[in-house]
Amino acid sequence: MASRLGHRRCLWSSLSCIAFALCASLNVFAQNTPFTPPAWPLAVKNPYLNGWLVNTAELNSGWPVLWTPSFDILGWYCSVVVDGVPYRILSPGPLPDIATAKQLSVDFTPTKTTFVLEAGPFVINATFMSTVTPNDLVRQSLPFSYFYVSARSSDGLPHTFKIYSDISSEWISGDDNAPANASSIGDNESVILETQLQGPLPFTEIKDHPQDASGFYAASNGENVTYEVIQANVSRTLFANGTGLDGFVDPLYNTHGLGRPFFDVFAIATDLGNITETSSPIVWAIGVTRDPSIQFSTPLTQKQMRSSFYRSNLSTPDDVASFFLADFNNSLVDSESFDTSLLAAAQNISMAYGDLLALTVRQAMSALEITGSKNSDGSFNTSDVMIFMKDMGGVGTGGVNAVDVLFAAFPMYLYLNPALGGCLLRPLLEGQDNDAYDIPFAAQDLGTQFPTATLSNVQHDFGIEQSANMIIMSLAHAMYSGDDSLLDQHYGLLKNWTDYLVNNTMDLGLQQPSLSDGFAAFNRTNLALKGIIGISAMSKIAAHFSRISDETQYKDVASSYLQTWLSKAISTDRTHLLSVLDQQQSSGILYNLYADKLLHLDLIPDSVYDLQTSYFSSQLDTSSFGIPLDSGNLTLSRSAAVATTNDVRDGLISLMHAYAATTANLLPLSAIYNPINGQALGGENSPSMGAMFSLLALE
Ligand SMILES: *[C@@H]1O[C@H](CO)[C@@H](O)[C@H](O)[C@H]1NC(C)=O
Ligand SMILES: *[C@@H]1O[C@H](CO)[C@@H](O)[C@H](O)[C@H]1NC(C)=O
Ligand SMILES: *[C@@H]1O[C@H](CO)[C@@H](O)[C@H](O)[C@H]1NC(C)=O
Ligand SMILES: *[C@@H]1O[C@H](CO)[C@@H](O)[C@H](O)[C@H]1NC(C)=O
Ligand SMILES: *[C@@H]1O[C@H](CO)[C@@H](O)[C@H](O)[C@H]1NC(C)=O
Ligand SMILES: *[C@@H]1O[C@H](CO)[C@@H](O)[C@H](O)[C@H]1NC(C)=O
Ligand SMILES: *[C@@H]1O[C@H](CO)[C@@H](O)[C@H](O)[C@H]1NC(C)=O
Ligand SMILES: *[C@@H]1O[C@H](CO)[C@@H](O)[C@H](O)[C@H]1NC(C)=O
Ligand SMILES: *[C@@H]1O[C@H](CO)[C@@H](O)[C@H](O)[C@H]1NC(C)=O
Ligand SMILES: *[C@@H]1O[C@H](CO)[C@@H](O)[C@H](O)[C@H]1NC(C)=O
Ligand SMILES: *[C@@H]1O[C@H](CO)[C@@H](O)[C@H](O)[C@H]1NC(C)=O
Ligand SMILES: *[C@@H]1O[C@H](CO)[C@@H](O)[C@H](O)[C@H]1NC(C)=O
Repeated sequence: MASRLGHRRCLWSSLSCIAFALCASLNVFAQNTPFTPPAWPLAVKNPYLNGWLVNTAELNSGWPVLWTPSFDILGWYCSVVVDGVPYRILSPGPLPDIATAKQLSVDFTPTKTTFVLEAGPFVINATFMSTVTPNDLVRQSLPFSYFYVSARSSDGLPHTFKIYSDISSEWISGDDNAPANASSIGDNESVILETQLQGPLPFTEIKDHPQDASGFYAASNGENVTYEVIQANVSRTLFANGTGLDGFVDPLYNTHGLGRPFFDVFAIATDLGNITETSSPIVWAIGVTRDPSIQFSTPLTQKQMRSSFYRSNLSTPDDVASFFLADFNNSLVDSESFDTSLLAAAQNISMAYGDLLALTVRQAMSALEITGSKNSDGSFNTSDVMIFMKDMGGVGTGGVNAVDVLFAAFPMYLYLNPALGGCLLRPLLEGQDNDAYDIPFAAQDLGTQFPTATLSNVQHDFGIEQSANMIIMSLAHAMYSGDDSLLDQHYGLLKNWTDYLVNNTMDLGLQQPSLSDGFAAFNRTNLALKGIIGISAMSKIAAHFSRISDETQYKDVASSYLQTWLSKAISTDRTHLLSVLDQQQSSGILYNLYADKLLHLDLIPDSVYDLQTSYFSSQLDTSSFGIPLDSGNLTLSRSAAVATTNDVRDGLISLMHAYAATTANLLPLSAIYNPINGQALGGENSPSMGAMFSLLALE
């Protein structure tokens, strides 16, 4: 866009062209890459370690906040002292009143966000890294992120350099009046500062914060590493005025609310002496841990306490923080290679597609709590892995493992490690595969009280949607992982859900499509399509186990339903697909076509894909940020589509990219938005953005 504009100006006046070129070259310096998203991911690793900086703020003009619309502050501060002069790097903390470093640019990759700032003679890189290790469940389940800093003097001369960073207890509670306590471990290896609520509330959230967590701030120990736990303004002043931190942990910490009448902070500082550059990064580890992390029950079973998977290797807080610190160099290498290979794969499709994956991967992975159970002797059962997803942003029921949200996110898990998908399906399948679950269709979720996961008998109007979602995901998991054990174990349950689809798909009644579609809707073409694909998927599952009569029965039903569907889903003038059955004026995105491709069913004729593609093609220019999900509401879109030509595919990606890069929004990328003005309408930080991986998953 910019270059096109510049080019046109050139034709008019060579003077303005030179001005434009100058502007452009200055901009390169201040440019954020690959683009400025609605919010910058900082520590985004777990539902409760989920801190962001909204895009309108520079690193030292805005507080890090939890991911939700209430913009709850998560205290996190950093400053440096260069040649005796203090500069603030992170957060707008007002006291002491010191100079702010100047932000030059921001860059993000799938695992890192890096701010480049200028503080006196130093250029400083401040990087927030949340690793993504889909094949290593110990590391992936660790609710810890890195903050690391490197600096180089821009005049090439040595200058004295000290650096300080702290966090508050806001990371472990949504209630500033709750008293928290503080403790420190300072051994030869590391400094580990820990905080807990005095009165923890197990499995309870306040405004999406945990109330039963331990917060950690830690760094490797060494010469000139100091720490202190005391009132924020005092701690920051002690560092800035040259007095320094002296290892004091304020015993009065627990006598007042963690943020009332003031905040205490957990601070760790390092004095590097007179340097021209840091020889290795200065690293802090931030963590929010809970144990047990999930309580799980089904109609048949009592509450089972489950622990985050890393507890299989690391049990004491000291072990966890020390392991994470010692793992920094390894994590840096792993992140580098994860970023490189993901971006290379995505950029085979397009650069813009790579940008979108870079923004969404931490968001979608951070919604997961990966758990194992304990044997009766207290040892960890590493083969009993279950994963629980928080429906962040609440586009589904807002519940645990909300099935339609899981369905949207599934392509990402299939691509990164299909076994993750199986571990997400397990608690749903096991919870329903027993006589005590007496609903003939699939549940919507594991209850709405994350981190409590409860599968219960609940009637609802999403029977076709969720039953088909479960069948499709179960088959996809088996195909992409090569592990058919879930299909084998739950064949009867999947078959019963298929019978429900057979009975109901052609007469939708009050049946609703995914709540993530953003509205109540009847007789949806897309929903009927999902039901038919579900039946066809079961035929494929039956074929795999040589259950010939099931295979034949479901195959015949699917193809006969498809014929009826085609007669109601294509406009009578054969120009477009209808979004409401038989309703000639309707049109929209039939994203469930994707499952036909994902499962290699070859059920849907090419002519249907061609109609959808040509519809998209006709719509690409009508709004700036996306195509309406349904002609019934032109101001609502959702990031989902299937196209058969590269032009149309790229056109859709570019609309999505424009939405992700619009400065209209301030929350982590939201799933539902207005395609005309790009305004987010809900589903902030939703794991359903894992749908961005749908193109890669097909490869
Ligand atoms: C900061 O990041 C930039 C861009 O990646 C890099 O060129 C530079 O070497 C880094 N500086 C330091 C001190 O690490
Ligand atoms: C830092 O090193 C430079 C060059 O050796 C020297 O000029 C300067 O005085 C030193 N500063 C301090 C505070 O030691
Ligand atoms: C810590 O380091 C000191 C000095 O090197 C040494 O004497 C001491 O044994 C070490 N302590 C531990 C726990 O390793
Ligand atoms: C902090 O409070 C928790 C919960 O009451 C308690 O278990 C823990 O021992 C306390 N820690 C310190 C250092 O006081
Ligand atoms: C810190 O703030 C408190 C009020 O919250 C004030 O009484 C105290 O003087 C301040 N200390 C410093 C060093 O600014
Ligand atoms: C630095 O600030 C602390 C905390 O306010 C104060 O106690 C100390 O006297 C100050 N030191 C200097 C050198 O100003
Ligand atoms: C510790 O601080 C002193 C004084 O600033 C400095 O000379 C020394 O190089 C520092 N040591 C390390 C390991 O940074
Ligand atoms: C965890 O323990 C297992 C079994 O002892 C070991 O194979 C694995 O390497 C350990 N993982 C980490 C991250 O320490
Ligand atoms: C499937 O449905 C039949 C008939 O309602 C029932 O007897 C059977 O227990 C169900 N099987 C499973 C695994 O839910
Ligand atoms: C499907 O309909 C048949 C015939 O009405 C009925 O016997 C059967 O129980 C129904 N199955 C399910 C799963 O709804
Ligand atoms: C759905 O379509 C059927 C058949 O055309 C019609 O009878 C029914 O009223 C429609 N349902 C709703 C809720 O509009
Ligand atoms: C379209 O959807 C948006 C977001 O849910 C809603 O605010 C608006 O009222 C809807 N418009 C119509 C015409 O239904």
